[in-house]
Amino acid sequence: MKTTGKCLLSAVFATAIAAAQEPAQVTFTKDVAPILQQRCQTCHRPDTFAPMSLLTYEEARPWAKSIKQKVVAREMPPWYIDKNVGVHNFKNDVSLTDKEIATLAKWADTGAPKGNPADMPPPRKFEDNDTWHMGQPDLIVQLPKDILVPAAGADRWIDVLADAGLTEDRYIRGIEIRTMKGFRSVHHVTTSMKHEDDADSGSTRVSVFTPDREGLFYRICAGLAAAGANIIDARIHTTRDGMALDNLLVKDGQGRAYSDRRLRNRLVRAVEAALASDAPPALPRAQTPGRTAAFRVAPSVAIAERASTRTTVVEVNARDRPALLAGLARAIHEQGTVVD
Ligand code: HEC
Repeated sequence: MKTTGKCLLSAVFATAIAAAQEPAQVTFTKDVAPILQQRCQTCHRPDTFAPMSLLTYEEARPWAKSIKQKVVAREMPPWYIDKNVGVHNFKNDVSLTDKEIATLAKWADTGAPKGNPADMPPPRKFEDNDTWHMGQPDLIVQLPKDILVPAAGADRWIDVLADAGLTEDRYIRGIEIRTMKGFRSVHHVTTSMKHEDDADSGSTRVSVFTPDREGLFYRICAGLAAAGANIIDARIHTTRDGMALDNLLVKDGQGRAYSDRRLRNRLVRAVEAALASDAPPALPRAQTPGRTAAFRVAPSVAIAERASTRTTVVEVNARDRPALLAGLARAIHEQGTVVD
């Protein structure tokens, strides 16, 4: 999908963690509470953004099954560093060990017993929500104005530009985000620095917000391909109420952004048509662009067996051509797998 013709897709699989060595009987007070204190309560306690508190047995007990499911899938605690590739040793690694996962799973599988109250560790102490955890900041940047979040409705995912007021180059050691008015409506926030010279001009962002369904990604790609757009980047986000928010960066056939409003509308209509129709959209016939006709690239597909603990990574090398991504997404969809 990039100009190099390299394309990386990943498909979601739940990974079963082999039951590692776990104690004969697992109880909340002795085995589970220390893990929750260390790994979960930073978020799962009153007045933070996580949906429920996991401080006490009474609070955690109803969530036993769900806890097992989330930790076995390595969705909780959120830690997206892959266990199988690249650097593994991080100072602030919050992920669970296989043994801790096995302990939580066994606790859920054996009726989530409380155990001896005398085994319960003393409660963990937390700093105030308005403590800076990385030390007093050199620079505080505030949002230009409050963002009002309606009490009901779908998740909103928005980009906000805040002026850092910097007039000269500075190194950034770290960024900490603090909510000024409570956590209740914030799910997560990521920050990046945007330089004035950043060329956003080279591509057009297409955001699709729609009920999630099988083959959704393939349909979107096919719709864009039908309108002649080349996809250069795709981010997929699924909300908890069953909606999908897919953000794609596209370029036109000449490698430029869509500056003409009529052409942009055509893109929108093509994606809407691909989403509305029952029959899967046809992919445009592949034509070899003249420029690359001289090269013969034999496509290769590899499944990176251990590239990811959460997903299966399919690496595809092929000559870039229109609708390449849509074709791949269709093939993956037809195998009954999901693109993540
Ligand atoms: C960095 C903050 C953070 C940490 C640490 C964390 N969680 Fe969560 N957890 C969340 C958030 C936020 C959600 C809501 C999920 C969502 O909306 O995607 C959640 C959701 C969950 C859910 C699903 C709740 C539901 O409504 O279905 C479970 C179960 C859970 N967490 C268990 C755990 C356990 C067990 C740990 C520790 C091993 C843990 N979490 C650590 C933030 C965290």
